[in-house]
Amino acid sequence: MKLITAIIQEDKLDQVREALIQANISRISVSRISGHGRQEDIDIYRGRKIAPNLRPKIKLEIAVNEEFVDVAIDTIVDSARHGSGEIGDGKIFVTPLEQCVRIRTNERGGSAI
Ligand SMILES: Nc1ncnc2c1ncn2[C@@H]1O[C@H](COP(=O)(O)OP(=O)(O)OP(=O)(O)O)[C@@H](O)[C@H]1O
Ligand SMILES: [Mg+2]
Repeated sequence: MKLITAIIQEDKLDQVREALIQANISRISVSRISGHGRQEDIDIYRGRKIAPNLRPKIKLEIAVNEEFVDVAIDTIVDSARHGSGEIGDGKIFVTPLEQCVRIRTNERGGSAI
């Protein structure tokens, strides 16, 4: 199992959710977060680096079984990108997922996803 964490632009949220549904990935958590990537200018004031402004972003968290990892990533890349790709389009992180428990049934592992 993997946890896919994607940071995307706000205006792409509905398009990404719709594309994931079409790819049979229907379980998702969505958070409004803020962050900065590598372009956000680091100004120097009186010889000291100043943290850049935070920009609003959307964080998606999707826990999937192994066979859905690639399709989830490809779907997010295709649906979250502006045109052929713009600075700030976002990023995807994939981490191993140790366990998943469906609270209602106490199922564990892949069948609980
Ligand atoms: N290494 C990172 N660690 C944690 N969060 C990150 C990291 N890189 C990007 N993010 C988050 O993702 C958001 C979007 O990042 P962004 O798409 O600007 O990445 P980038 O590396 O600057 O790539 P690009 O050159 O395409 O802009 C950031 O605002 C931040 O919230
Ligand atoms: Mg950036």
